[in-house]
Amino acid sequence: MKIAIIGYGQMGKLIEKIAPDFGLEVVSKIDPILENEITEESIKDAEVCIDFSLPNSVLPNARKIANLRKNLVIGTTGWQEHFAEIEQLSKKFGIGIIYGSNFSIGMNTFFLIVENAAKLMNQLPQYDAFGYEMHHNKKQDSPSGTAKTLADIVINNLDRKTIRQYEKLDRKINPEEFHFSSIRCGNIPGTHTIGFDSMADTIELKHTARNREGFAQGAIQAAKWINDKKGMFNFQEIFYEILMDKK
Ligand SMILES: NC(=O)c1ccc[n+]([C@@H]2O[C@H](COP(=O)([O-])OP(=O)(O)OC[C@H]3O[C@@H](n4cnc5c(N)ncnc54)[C@H](OP(=O)(O)O)[C@@H]3O)[C@@H](O)[C@H]2O)c1
Repeated sequence: MKIAIIGYGQMGKLIEKIAPDFGLEVVSKIDPILENEITEESIKDAEVCIDFSLPNSVLPNARKIANLRKNLVIGTTGWQEHFAEIEQLSKKFGIGIIYGSNFSIGMNTFFLIVENAAKLMNQLPQYDAFGYEMHHNKKQDSPSGTAKTLADIVINNLDRKTIRQYEKLDRKINPEEFHFSSIRCGNIPGTHTIGFDSMADTIELKHTARNREGFAQGAIQAAKWINDKKGMFNFQEIFYEILMDKK
């Protein structure tokens, strides 16, 4: 299968490196640093485009890719305000788009663990809940897309938490607020922690990415999966199917 890499940064370069191990051929790379843009000529005969660029680039990139009737994997985070328009592009042009705040299999397993923990905590009112994430100092968005997904999971499954709170507070926090903070430092590839705290103890669930390889592998598996599909899909909802796919 032939792919185009949109965004030749840390993730784009890693995907280029490991793509052959998964039977993929990189026929096109698009990045300001390569002084090219998405056109019919530059994308060549790529079947799927994988976008790991910048939050502000996702919508303009998706418009161009949809016009070329190519399927798309969106790994970039921080574009949720454009979700409706991007979904509309997939319908209008009949293309497949798969997106995910985090393409690592481990993190998607972690999502399920957190979902079950949050449900369990409905029976244990003595526990409050919190979250925090840490990333490298070059990351452009905050909180991370993964942090937002984790906060959604807690809010949707722990009845007493109804409000996402990512900001610093100059007041007491309200019991229904779920506080999730962000730290930016050094080279951390991504650490996410969800905690539950009572008078007696603290329970912490923590996912630590050791490197970016897990994200790149998941994005490549997503590209293979979306190749023959139409519509808009969340990686989180179909990752079990991808795991079981022995192609
Ligand atoms: N979903 C996941 O599993 C996952 C995992 C890791 C990272 N991410 C996300 O993926 C994104 C990229 O991460 P990264 O670490 O690879 O960032 P990065 O190293 O900054 O790479 C982004 C690259 O995209 C380029 N770019 C900007 N606008 C573009 C456009 N319109 N078309 C093509 N390329 C463009 C940038 O060029 P300039 O520097 O010249 O602007 C840069 O080279 C971030 O949003 C990050 O949060 C997601």
